Amino acid sequence: MNILSIETSADETAISIIGAQGDFPNATYTILGNSLRSQIETHRQYGGIFPTMAKRDHARALTPLLHNSLKEAGLLASATSELTTVQKQLLTDILAEREPELLTQLSALLEKYEKPEIDLIAMTVGPGLEPALWVGVNFAKVLALTWNVPVVPVNHMEGHVLASIFDGQKLADTKFPALALLISGGHTEFVLMSEWMSYTCIGQTRDDAVGEAFDKVARQIGLPYPGGPEIEKLAHIARTKNIPEYIHLPRPMINSQNLDFSFSGLKTAVRYAVQDKELSGSDQQALARDFEDAVTEVLYVKTKQAIGAHGIQSLIIGGGVSANSHIRQQLRQLLNAEYPDVSIYVPDPKLATDNSVMIALAGHARANEARASEDIQSVRADGNLSLS
Ligand code: KG4
Ligand code: ZN
Repeated sequence: MNILSIETSADETAISIIGAQGDFPNATYTILGNSLRSQIETHRQYGGIFPTMAKRDHARALTPLLHNSLKEAGLLASATSELTTVQKQLLTDILAEREPELLTQLSALLEKYEKPEIDLIAMTVGPGLEPALWVGVNFAKVLALTWNVPVVPVNHMEGHVLASIFDGQKLADTKFPALALLISGGHTEFVLMSEWMSYTCIGQTRDDAVGEAFDKVARQIGLPYPGGPEIEKLAHIARTKNIPEYIHLPRPMINSQNLDFSFSGLKTAVRYAVQDKELSGSDQQALARDFEDAVTEVLYVKTKQAIGAHGIQSLIIGGGVSANSHIRQQLRQLLNAEYPDVSIYVPDPKLATDNSVMIALAGHARANEARASEDIQSVRADGNLSLS
């Protein structure tokens, strides 16, 4: 089956078309078309995601990305008949009021091309920024109703889990119980999986998510948004040059007897350390490394504790922060030494941050929950959607 997937939960707009042969979790996947547009340039001036701008940017980007992905997949064929009056009315009904930015572009595309060979549409319905999520949901609804294709609502975090065990074609033959360590801009949590698609949250951050801490600390030491990749770059230089510690940062909650995290104290500690100071380039590098070390140590100690407490056989590290090569190397190295029998999965760096390939994988996993097109008006975006 061909799955069209749509991701608009934060500041990446993405549309993929994935061919799936066989059933989840043993299917073979082919990426037929994949287009992604990052909004980083829009949000950089604000130092974080600006929701109204995110919504507007998604609306502008979706139709061109759909066109690109369909073209790449070889699924664009000129229309042989016009849209019916009912179809045109439907487009206006759903989009005119809610997503006027989408209406003109999307109507033109739907009028120009035949219904493509798409069997299922998967879209992120949460968690994330609700106005941003709604654009993707409404876009999916219009496609589904015009083409008469079922839709499957997807949890973004389930997408991150599956991206981490995806090798580009297949999902890893995962052993259970598995532990997912999900570290992104909005989430930091341990999720226990006793089997496929069964999730129990066994620990989470009490304040900032790790990615959020990366972004805030980066800003405090004068680096642009998003902070994760910037901190990683400078921290690497500090290690190569062996620059001494600028400040020994706390390791928050490292000795707590639970699996929760807290990262906001790190941001405060960095703020005090740099207050009224002119930071040199090497000061920035040292601070970036000091921060990355503190985060890595907390993640390592907590993960070790979780693996021991729950007899974990597979560790799945996912979410945008899992793109960080120091964190992934350290966790892999240290945990391999202590738990050689635990399989550790990290995503291909291109699939670590938000993308729509992972949404197609999650959509395929839940294909049996798909709703026929006449039953999709009730699908809603939910900014706080949880996995468990
Ligand atoms: O998963 P993601 O793309 O979006 C959310 O679902 O939140 O994660 C984005 C977060 C941002 O906070 C970003 O700074 C962080 O992931 N990030 C990184 C790296 N690349 C992205 N953090 C540390 N090191 C990186 N290389
Ligand atoms: Zn994400």
